[in-house]
Amino acid sequence: MHPSRFLLATTALLATCVQNVHSAVVFAHYMLGNINADHVAQDIRDAKLAGIDGFSLNIGDPSQPFVLPVVTSLFAAAQAAGTFHLHISMDLYASGDAAGGHPGLYNALLKQFMGHPNYFHMNAAPYVTTFSDGGLQNTEWFNWKVSIGTMYFCPNFDNTTGYTTGADGWWDYWGPIVDCVFSWDAAWPVRPGPGNQGSASQGSDEIDVAVMTAATKRGKAYNMPLSTLQYKDSYGTNIYRPGDLTLVKRMENILRLQPQFVTIISWNDGPESHYIGNIWPEQNTDAEPARYVSAGRRWNHSGLRPLIKDFILAYAAGLPYTGSASLPALGPASVEGAMWYRTVTAQSTCPPSTHPDNAAAGGEVVNWAIVVGTGFTDVSVRVTSGPSSTTFAISGPGFHYASVQKNPGQQKIEVLSKGAVIGLGQGGRCVSALCPDGIYNMNDVVVGIGSPIVAPPVIACDDRPIHCQSAYVRWKALLKSWNAFS
Ligand SMILES: *[C@@H]1O[C@H](CO)[C@@H](O)[C@H](O)[C@H]1NC(C)=O
Ligand SMILES: *[C@@H]1O[C@H](CO)[C@@H](O)[C@H](O)[C@H]1NC(C)=O
Repeated sequence: MHPSRFLLATTALLATCVQNVHSAVVFAHYMLGNINADHVAQDIRDAKLAGIDGFSLNIGDPSQPFVLPVVTSLFAAAQAAGTFHLHISMDLYASGDAAGGHPGLYNALLKQFMGHPNYFHMNAAPYVTTFSDGGLQNTEWFNWKVSIGTMYFCPNFDNTTGYTTGADGWWDYWGPIVDCVFSWDAAWPVRPGPGNQGSASQGSDEIDVAVMTAATKRGKAYNMPLSTLQYKDSYGTNIYRPGDLTLVKRMENILRLQPQFVTIISWNDGPESHYIGNIWPEQNTDAEPARYVSAGRRWNHSGLRPLIKDFILAYAAGLPYTGSASLPALGPASVEGAMWYRTVTAQSTCPPSTHPDNAAAGGEVVNWAIVVGTGFTDVSVRVTSGPSSTTFAISGPGFHYASVQKNPGQQKIEVLSKGAVIGLGQGGRCVSALCPDGIYNMNDVVVGIGSPIVAPPVIACDDRPIHCQSAYVRWKALLKSWNAFS
């Protein structure tokens, strides 16, 4: 027997003897960029406030000159914050190696930081994850692990044959190398087309169930991804995966499945639109993503964080999911939540070449989710989208969500108790049937729900309502709807 085969077989035997402890740890995926030290510290403070336990530091090419200083300032800020932990996520796909990347490129960085008091450890071993398997064989991964020493390895190998169904063959081949597995694409619904991966529908968990069942059977842990949407129109890619209620449905499914780890994708990936954290101007100065993400208020997704905090507290408590009441609000007199929507509509007059692949996926909807404190009775939610309002009666305290037909114009959400407004969300960008950004911009506008006293003012729509449009634009829209019928 080849020595590394022998080692593989021995670790396989040992691994089945190790029990997993209930951990419930939430990471947020953090794109390492040239972010200054003040902003790095702000990111850690904000993430901690949202209940996040640590960042999974996505590092592409580790030889970039900014990597070492930024990782150093992240660890310093984590230490200053006290309990915040970091670990390295080797982005082999972006690591710049022509063969698809090799984990050996990260050895120096790992050796420098794995012993840091704020490096995340599981079962007393430093936690390491990946984006992609790098196209390597199991023996290559095994030999690399041996070269590093003890680690808790929870890679994202979801692009390998048999992974998403939890196949025995997958576990025979990869099982001895992993302590835990992490699915990435399961966070979003699959895009049509050969080779594409993802869940069957918004927020559904069939991949997670299959993989987690197979992992649990072998004494291994599972890291379940949680994300809002994926919209990327830059770097030669233009794709869309909703979106809409994906985030909240996966929250419920995580509470049902109770995986050992959750990774929020992402804290700050601007170009993919699924950030919930800060987008700092120094991190990315490329013109393409700036069309749909910028440091300004318009594309600020921080309104989702109080809802995410409620979710994390419920998940950390490890209670079985029993419906809306298993996600309590921060206090009896508290209402957390948000409304989110795309500002383009199916009628928007954007150049067809700017429509992402899968642009028709998802609904023409305004989505909302709230968590209501136990102190409120007779609660309802009123969503006003353009000229029409829809009212939802809420069955009781806890977690509720829905979506409603979207119309061009202003968007507003009110939470009422006995007819009085207790929560208000407004001031987000208008929905438009024109094309204010010049591209079919499918990033979400997120409007947090807060006290009506501190809600931001309504801002004027930055294009004209439909009845004021020129005869030409109306004629074009009419032509488009005719074409749709022919
Ligand atoms: C997934 O696998 C295919 C086929 O081996 C490869 O072309 C692609 O680059 C891989 N993607 C990632 C993210 O690893
Ligand atoms: C995003 O919104 C939050 C909450 O209102 C605010 O604290 C933060 O400064 C905003 N960020 C930007 C870049 O506007």
